[in-house]
Amino acid sequence: MFDTPGLVCMILWYVMLFHPLHADIQCMESDTQESPITNVSVDWRKMELSWESSRNFSEFRCIIMDRGTEYIDTEVDSPLCSFPLELHMLMHKGLTFVIEVPNTNISKQCSFLPGGMKGSAIENFFCVIYNIFLMNCTWQAGRDAPADTQYFLYWQQSRGEEDMECELYIQDENFRNVGCIFQNVSIGTEKAYFLVNGSSNNSLIQFYDEYIDLYKIEILTAPLNVTAHCTRDPMSCIIMWHPPLTSHVENTKCFQYEISIQNKDEPTEEKRLPHVRNDRYEFQNYNEKKRYTLKIRARGKNCLVSSNWGEWSEPIEFGQGKDYFIFVILFLIALGTISITLLLYCLLKRYCSFKNLFPPIPQPRDKFNALTDEDIQTEYVNLPTKSHTEKITTIEE
Ligand SMILES: *[C@@H]1O[C@H](CO)[C@@H](O)[C@H](O)[C@H]1NC(C)=O
Ligand SMILES: *[C@@H]1O[C@H](CO)[C@@H](O)[C@H](O)[C@H]1NC(C)=O
Ligand SMILES: *[C@@H]1O[C@H](CO)[C@@H](O)[C@H](O)[C@H]1NC(C)=O
Ligand SMILES: *[C@@H]1O[C@H](CO)[C@@H](O)[C@H](O)[C@H]1NC(C)=O
Ligand SMILES: *[C@@H]1O[C@H](CO)[C@@H](O)[C@H](O)[C@H]1NC(C)=O
Ligand SMILES: *[C@@H]1O[C@H](CO)[C@@H](O)[C@H](O)[C@H]1NC(C)=O
Ligand SMILES: *[C@@H]1O[C@H](CO)[C@@H](O)[C@H](O)[C@H]1NC(C)=O
Ligand SMILES: *[C@@H]1O[C@H](CO)[C@@H](O)[C@H](O)[C@H]1NC(C)=O
Repeated sequence: MFDTPGLVCMILWYVMLFHPLHADIQCMESDTQESPITNVSVDWRKMELSWESSRNFSEFRCIIMDRGTEYIDTEVDSPLCSFPLELHMLMHKGLTFVIEVPNTNISKQCSFLPGGMKGSAIENFFCVIYNIFLMNCTWQAGRDAPADTQYFLYWQQSRGEEDMECELYIQDENFRNVGCIFQNVSIGTEKAYFLVNGSSNNSLIQFYDEYIDLYKIEILTAPLNVTAHCTRDPMSCIIMWHPPLTSHVENTKCFQYEISIQNKDEPTEEKRLPHVRNDRYEFQNYNEKKRYTLKIRARGKNCLVSSNWGEWSEPIEFGQGKDYFIFVILFLIALGTISITLLLYCLLKRYCSFKNLFPPIPQPRDKFNALTDEDIQTEYVNLPTKSHTEKITTIEE
């Protein structure tokens, strides 16, 4: 359509004073004679194209297209076209407008060409939302940007709202702005619009713009209050949690969870359970003799919630583990030893004298004075019968 021969005859420039970007709108006309369509202008905030016509036409047709040849046309009976704000066409790539009068050869094509020095626009623009309300946007200076270039970020939480400048820039070592921290972001249903322009004393700096669905760039926080309660009968653990907090989603059905369970004795073996949609899971392969660590993360499902996995919850431990059994066994052994010792001590104290058991004999002794084994036996037999006698015998051996 734009290659029609005879179309390009005259080029007019309208400096767009209402938009502070370094850009001009450049129009071509279809006729050597002065076109009836003049004074073309664009209100970027409202996405309105307006013009003046020296002749009364009953109808006009407007077309907007971007580099990707995406286009939309509307028909109006007055010299003003409003394009939908939801088009989300990027201005830094350039836009083309066409105003036509149906059933005539009259048309006017105008292009919005961003000005500025090539390679001076920022690169690698990237934003992320974290901790529910915080957002970081970062970028790199244009490769060919002059050393004194400073960049400024403006944004609209949804298109058509007032421009807001970044309140807290992230700067590099040369005090050049290379990012912005937003401290109170709430995620809406509309795409947010970002524009980074720049200034330098030597050259005009190209701007960059982008539309972002804020919910898509959120790193979800971890699910809250993760707990595990195990029972022996039936042998299972009930794992429960609360959905992560977000600035915009109340519906608990909007999340999907991944549960990771790790046996503490085999840290390399991590079990990722199938994704679940509710906030409760019954872990049935539970082995009482083992100890486990558990963590959970969330992602969005079906709603306007990021479909990327969020942060893992702090690992919690559950299950009794081998340690517990060893502890119990050690405890029982210790208890047994202590009670036997105590018992023996009491018995010995009561019925024997240490002298009898361990006589201080190192010297040779008088065969007839010394007690013989038979004597001890006699003494022993004379003891009142008690249930503990057997144990004493053991010790004597
Ligand atoms: C069109 O624009 C020119 C210059 O910008 C101005 O002088 C002229 O008055 C405008 N025409 C109309 C009809 O407003
Ligand atoms: C266009 O029409 C209006 C009334 O509809 C009239 O007042 C005006 O003079 C007309 N202009 C031209 C240039 O014909
Ligand atoms: C439009 O241009 C064609 C030739 O390109 C010509 O034949 C036709 O008469 C023109 N129509 C009008 C309404 O000027
Ligand atoms: C956001 O920026 C701050 C300051 O540069 C930094 O400390 C923080 O780690 C960034 N957060 C993310 C998620 O990139
Ligand atoms: C955060 O923004 C909301 C509206 O978006 C506002 O009601 C609230 O007061 C703000 N909080 C702070 C700490 O600025
Ligand atoms: C950058 O854009 C904003 C908003 O459109 C404007 O207010 C500001 O003057 C511009 N700055 C430069 C250096 O072009
Ligand atoms: C431009 O030069 C003036 C004076 O020399 C200086 O104050 C200003 O900071 C410079 N601007 C930039 C973007 O370097
Ligand atoms: C999580 O537990 C804390 C107390 O431990 C409680 O104050 C908080 O309300 C709980 N969070 C949710 C989402 O229930």
